Amino acid sequence: MRVAIIGDGRVARALRGRLEAAGHEVVLADLPDVEQAVRSADVVILDIPYHRYSELPAAPFTNKVTVDAINYDPDQDGSLPELEQVRATTELLARHLPGARIVKALNTLPLLTLSDIGPFRGDVPRPAVPIAGNEPGAKAVVAELLADLGFDPVDAGSLGDSWRLQPGMPVFGLLLDLDDVRARLALSS
Ligand SMILES: NC(=O)c1ccc[n+]([C@@H]2O[C@H](COP(=O)([O-])OP(=O)(O)OC[C@H]3O[C@@H](n4cnc5c(N)ncnc54)[C@H](OP(=O)(O)O)[C@@H]3O)[C@@H](O)[C@H]2O)c1
Repeated sequence: MRVAIIGDGRVARALRGRLEAAGHEVVLADLPDVEQAVRSADVVILDIPYHRYSELPAAPFTNKVTVDAINYDPDQDGSLPELEQVRATTELLARHLPGARIVKALNTLPLLTLSDIGPFRGDVPRPAVPIAGNEPGAKAVVAELLADLGFDPVDAGSLGDSWRLQPGMPVFGLLLDLDDVRARLALSS
């Protein structure tokens, strides 16, 4: 797949290595190259600070499968009063990019896990990754991409349910197998 990663920071670079090792074509795009990178991509992965999502141009994202790998971090992003309207941070992103086929994924993984190059070997349990989205077709594309990277995707419901993937929740920041992810999603409240 042609994958555009928006952001050129630590997470974007770690993911690029992993995606390229799995045979995907990757472009990293900072502003002002976002528009062209998104238009030519099959899948877009957002790896920018949360408070900057409103800088993204909405039009090129129309019909694009878009992975929201962003976490809201109050220390870095500051206080955002608009977050009081929603439970899942991705809901504000979805309002800003109304045409995008958004799937919340990859935000739960520790940076070191994303940095490992290549798929995991058969003798190591595949880490499971929860994904949430409103559209089964978009989720299927992201699930295929995650499987290529050596992860087991786990359906965690709709975008509205994606607060279960956010910092502080039981699945966040840990390397877990399929059963663990399912059990911890069920624990979230
Ligand atoms: N374990 C983890 O740490 C982890 C795992 C998954 C996801 N995440 C999430 O991934 C995101 C990125 O984290 P990071 O550590 O890679 O951050 P980072 O090192 O600070 O890099 C952020 C990058 O995004 C660029 N950027 C900012 N606004 C942009 C915009 N509107 N359009 C295009 N590019 C933009 C920045 O460019 P400039 O410097 O030019 O502004 C910078 O290259 C965060 O939301 C983080 O929560 C973190």
